[in-house]
Amino acid sequence: MKNLLITGGAGFIGSNFVRYILNKYPDYHTIVFDKLTYAGNLDNLRDVANDPRYAFIRADICDADAVERAIREHRIDTIVNFAAETHVDRSIMDADAFIKTDVYGTYVLLEAAKKFGLRYHQVGTDEVYGWVVEGRSREDDRLLPRSPYAASKAGADLLIHAYVVTHKVGATITRGSNNIGPYQYPEKVVPLFVTNAIDNLPLPLYGDGKQMRDYQYVLDHCEAIDIVLHHGKIGEVYNVGTGEETENIVMARMILKLLGKPESLIQHVPDRPGHDRRYALDISKLCALGWKSTHTFEEALRKTVRWYVENEWWWRKLKSGEYLEYYRKQYLERR
Ligand code: NAD
Ligand code: TYD
Repeated sequence: MKNLLITGGAGFIGSNFVRYILNKYPDYHTIVFDKLTYAGNLDNLRDVANDPRYAFIRADICDADAVERAIREHRIDTIVNFAAETHVDRSIMDADAFIKTDVYGTYVLLEAAKKFGLRYHQVGTDEVYGWVVEGRSREDDRLLPRSPYAASKAGADLLIHAYVVTHKVGATITRGSNNIGPYQYPEKVVPLFVTNAIDNLPLPLYGDGKQMRDYQYVLDHCEAIDIVLHHGKIGEVYNVGTGEETENIVMARMILKLLGKPESLIQHVPDRPGHDRRYALDISKLCALGWKSTHTFEEALRKTVRWYVENEWWWRKLKSGEYLEYYRKQYLERR
């Protein structure tokens, strides 16, 4: 394994993964293949842009010719797929791009992996299990996605299973919980709340705010993907999270406290339709491979808040144009 095609590598987790791999493996090459949707951003990769082991291709994973060209040109041996439409609220407004990229795009990559005999890793999500009323999701639990986003990611996971069984593609899947950290587009809850709080704007909390998520630090997730890529068993799925959940209202209060802002900034807004009130993962399978999360939620949040405070250059320009249009539709027009 030396030449990695990192699809969706200009997004939040993908760009952190590129940096992680370049730091850890001096002889690896990272070829980012990204369409640069509203969520893709070359600023995320600014610090590696001149690294001779990094290259960037602007293209769509649904474009089979472009995928094959990239594989031949860069002698790719491994695909790590981060490319996806990722925001639940946008999938509720319009699911079209989710089905195209998350399902059909995964199919295109699997066909390429089959044709060229590549190792394939899929970056999946814990949202495919749906609302976890009690206990913790295990990898062999039934998939019960409840949002169009989660359903599109579940579709991808099922396709991967079929390609492993039928075509013997060497694939693995990780199902990660919510990530936080540097370079997350400010529509996701943590960067949205942090950047709004910095500007003394309201923090729109859905419903009662008692929904629970397992927020993990993005570099812990990157390390887990690395471990599964190198030591995971082909055909297997691995949950990735901290195994601890936090209520959204608690997370919001902690952000305000870290920034020295008043709790009166929290504004309860109508709940998301079909909102999964809790995700919770059993992470014992991944831990058995030697992985351990190195950040508590508090440490992860503290680092994340500090990064947004110190990197206004990165996020302030994103909160304009398309973002403001989305913000208006999502928050101002639906009340
Ligand atoms: P993101 O939205 O920040 O980035 C997605 C990237 O994919 C962007 O750079 C975008 O330009 C690119 N992209 C979208 N459609 C494409 C297409 N058709 N062809 C090529 N590139 C395309 O997402 P993220 O938060 O970094 O998530 C990355 C992956 O991890 C996704 O597959 C997501 O489902 C999964 N995941 C995310 C989280 C999380 O908390 N963010 C948790 C678990 C799993
Ligand atoms: P989000 O970051 O969209 O991730 P996901 O829905 O994929 O888990 O949301 C995380 C949690 O925060 C989720 O329970 C919904 C809630 N949330 C709010 O309360 N307000 C918001 O403005 C957003 C975007 C999310």
